[in-house]
This record gives sequence, structure tokens and C-alpha cells, in this order.
Amino acid sequence: MLPDRLWQLGRYLETHHALWHDRAFVQRPVSWEAAEPALVAWLDAQPTALFLAPDRAWLAEAPPVARRWAAEADALAALPALSAAPTPLRGFGTLGLPGRKLSQIEHFAAPVRDRWPRPTRITDWCAGKGHLGRALCHHTGAALQALEWQEALCAAGRVECERVGVAAHFACVDVRDAAAAALLAPDDLVVALHACGGLHTALLRAVVERGAAGLALAPCCYNQPSPDRGRPLSRAAAAVGLRIDDNDLDLLHRQPANASQGTLRRSRQNQHWRLAFDALQRQATGVDAYRPMPPFPDPWLALPFDAFCARFAELEGIELPAHLRPDDFLAEGEAAWRATVARDAVRSLFARPLEAWLVLDRACYLEEAGYAVEVGTFCDRTLTPRNAIILARQPTTP
Ligand SMILES: C[S@@+](CC[C@H](N)C(=O)[O-])C[C@H]1O[C@@H](n2cnc3c(N)ncnc32)[C@H](O)[C@@H]1O
Repeated sequence: MLPDRLWQLGRYLETHHALWHDRAFVQRPVSWEAAEPALVAWLDAQPTALFLAPDRAWLAEAPPVARRWAAEADALAALPALSAAPTPLRGFGTLGLPGRKLSQIEHFAAPVRDRWPRPTRITDWCAGKGHLGRALCHHTGAALQALEWQEALCAAGRVECERVGVAAHFACVDVRDAAAAALLAPDDLVVALHACGGLHTALLRAVVERGAAGLALAPCCYNQPSPDRGRPLSRAAAAVGLRIDDNDLDLLHRQPANASQGTLRRSRQNQHWRLAFDALQRQATGVDAYRPMPPFPDPWLALPFDAFCARFAELEGIELPAHLRPDDFLAEGEAAWRATVARDAVRSLFARPLEAWLVLDRACYLEEAGYAVEVGTFCDRTLTPRNAIILARQPTTP
């Protein structure tokens, strides 16, 4: 069942590869434009604000082909809600935890408690102060093992556990080391809420290697540098042969839905100015190709545009001829930005299917190792966009 879903999703993503792989920011026109002239004409005729409006408002009036892609992509990416009523934790050693994080933990804990009412020991992987593990142990009577590499967080976690009477061992380790895997025992229920990139792939390998009894994992930050970034873990995913590069993974981690107005404004100016500088550098160098630009300090955005360009040209070792006036390129940058936003709206339709692909790959990896696996969501996306959860159990354990 899981491999079938993975296969269908992989074939769909492969068929529509250009739609989510091509980035209008660096490549205009994108390669699919020639095949979709009516859609492109429609996209370019809309006000940019339409594409920036929440909840994909642009789709309501979009040409049928875009609505069809959205419907197909959503159907293939859909994950069932595994959330039960959230476990209330407020006031239980969680003082000082921001409300959003607390609520994520409450939602994550609920399906875990449903399935593992009496675990022997819970290992919290990348535990921070161990809020999740401590709460689960408090409710289930399990002992806690918390793996975390920051000594200060381990120390704070120990204090909290003592205060609320949870028997705990905090191990200050790098979870990517073999020593961390060696700390897992066959009885363990391992939990990991938002373990990033290589930290959760290390966890999956450790769980399989040690044969831990159970796992509850919400993966996160698929785009963080790690040796296996973008590479399939399961045999089922490898058989599909889907190509995923680092830029594709960035699609999953674009502007957070809850970004402030100030952050959004800066991000838009950043993109507009980069594209305007790109037009300028093409003229200056005579090379009509996008040139990747490194990050720059935020205060540069407060400079006049010509001063911004002078700094960037110096940083990049580009000589700007005196007759080229940077301000003349602002309009071109703006037009490029508008075209980019419109095409990115289409690209974004594939973010969720791409994430579902990664989640199902991890689930299939566990299934191939003999685990009984469930995949779903533990909360609404408004609480965290990384709301997928993988629950895996060794069939031999109660
Ligand atoms: C995104 S936080 C998640 C913390 C906790 N699970 C939560 O949801 O609140 C990631 C945690 O992983 C820890 N961490 C990062 N890299 C690590 C590594 N290589 N080994 C152990 N812990 C690591 C960080 O210090 C941080 O506490």
C-alpha cells in the first residue's frame, strides 16, 4: 500500500518534473512555458497581489490546467489526520515554552499516547530540554532518555525532570555518531519532533539497526546539508528514480505562512533588487546568464539602489561601467520579479506532493525493515507546516 502510493506519487512528480524543478528566478522563460501559452498569458495578466494572497486564492479563477494540477497534486499528497484530542501539558514543566511549540508538542503527543499507552522507556532524539519526552513519560510512566548535544539544554532538562519527578537520563551526544545509535535499546519508543535533515535520517538508520520497538517521527528541514540530502532511503523510492536536487528541496521551506509583514516586505525587496542587479550585471559583463548571488547583510536593503549595486559589484568582483545607471534596471527587476511570482505560484502546487514523497520514502524504508508503519498528520498546517508524522512499530512488540 505505502509503496504503491509512493510509486504513483513518484511517477506524477516525474511526469511534471519541469513544473516544480524550473525556477523562474534564475531561468525565464521556464521550460514548460512553450507548452502552456494560454496559462502563461493568463498568469502574466494577473496582478501580483493575487499570487501573494493566502490560501492559493489565484486558483479560483485560474485556467483549468492549473486547477487540474492542483487537484491531482493534492489528492496524491493527502495524508490522513492521525491526531487525537491534544494531550494538555500546560503547567507541566513546560513553563517558558512558547505557546506554538507547546501546542505542537500537545498534538504530537496525542497519537503517540494512543498507540503506546505503556512504553518501558522513551528516547527523545534531538530533545532540546526534553519537553516532549518528559511530557510523554509523565503521562505513561515510562523512563526518559534524552539525546541532545547542547550541554546547557541537557542541564535545564535534568532540572525540569527532577522537579516533576520523571526519571531521566540526558546524554549529551551528537546523534549522527555511532555512539548515539548504540544508546537505543530494543524496548525503546523513540520520539523525534522536528529533527532536521540528516538528524532524522540518522535516526531512521539507528532505529532499524538497533531494532527499537517503536518510532514517532515528525521530520523537518529536508534542505539542510547532510550526506543523504534528497537521496532515497527506501528501495521503493530508489526504483522510481526521481531526481531531487538541493533547489528542489528549498521549495518545501519557502516563506513561512506566519511570516510578519516586515519580513515579507524585506524578502520581496531582496528578490526585486537581486533581479534588478542581475539585469545590470548581464549588461555589464556581456554574459546573458543568471549569476548566483551570495547572501548579503540586511542593512544593505536600506541603502539607495545604486549604492547597493556598488557594494554587490565589489563583492562579486564585477566592474560596472560608468554609463550604466543602476536605477535604470529597477523596472526590469520589477518585471522579472512579477513574472517569477506568477510562475512560482504554479511551482508551489508541487511542494506538498514533494514533501509527501519524502515522508513516504522514509515510511517505506521502515516498512522494508519489517516495521508496521502509519503515515499522517498530527496537527493542522497552520500550527506547523511540517505536520507529517510517521508512526512505526515492530510487529513483535505489544
Ligand atoms: C528543531 S530542535 C527540536 C527540539 C525538540 N525536539 C523540540 O521539538 O522542541 C532541534 C534540537 O536538536 C539539537 N541538535 C541539533 N543538532 C544535533 C546533533 N547533531 N546532535 C544532537 N542534537 C542536535 C538542537 O540543539 C536542538 O535542541
